[in-house]
Amino acid sequence: MSYNIAIDGPAGAGKSTVAKLIAARKGYIYVDTGAMYRAMALHMLEKGIDLTKAEDIAAECENADISIRYEDGLQCVILNGVNVNDRIRTEEVSAAASRTSVVPEVRKKLTSLQKKLAEEQDVVMDGRDIGTKVLPNADLKIFLTAGAETRAKRRFDELTAKGEVCDLQAIQRDIEDRDMRDMTRAEAPLKQAEDAVLIDTSHMSAEEAAEEIIRLTETA
Ligand code: DC
Repeated sequence: MSYNIAIDGPAGAGKSTVAKLIAARKGYIYVDTGAMYRAMALHMLEKGIDLTKAEDIAAECENADISIRYEDGLQCVILNGVNVNDRIRTEEVSAAASRTSVVPEVRKKLTSLQKKLAEEQDVVMDGRDIGTKVLPNADLKIFLTAGAETRAKRRFDELTAKGEVCDLQAIQRDIEDRDMRDMTRAEAPLKQAEDAVLIDTSHMSAEEAAEEIIRLTETA
């Protein structure tokens, strides 16, 4: 039986940084499900799909061939045969992913891929609905969060370090809009699973959060 850790929470809580630290320490595979939703959104943008039309997204999603591959322990998202890792982190794709991920057909397709990955190996999987929908029987469930201000500042620092000019307040507004959409959507909304452990990283480093979660795997 594989050991599964599910980490859910809003954008910017530090899920991917923390999950990668845990995966490296435990020798597990890190599965970034947001990257799969982003690849799906990129596909829709490339095909010029009107993102306000759920039925068009649902129909086109059948044509998106998404898989993941690991290179030197890093997850690569493959969209229609091409590694799109370096194209899915733009604000345009973030906004599109938040829209396309509400479509049930999109969720169905990606959820089944995620379940399969977790059956085959020990994983740390992060997303929005991992503990509630994708891996309801996960061995350990974590809900990782932080205040919107802290999350916006982290994103701002990340973009600034990459040399991008950005506006802190606009980023915070974006984060709050996205949280609202993720939490109020009908399909698999972002919410803490009843049996998840809540960790607030507002005043915690990623290393401290990872330590805490590893400690929980040892006592769970
Ligand atoms: O975690 P992220 O920012 O890379 O996620 C991109 C988008 O995909 C975000 O709007 C939420 C959505 N998502 C989702 O609906 N379900 C998941 N399991 C992961 C991400």
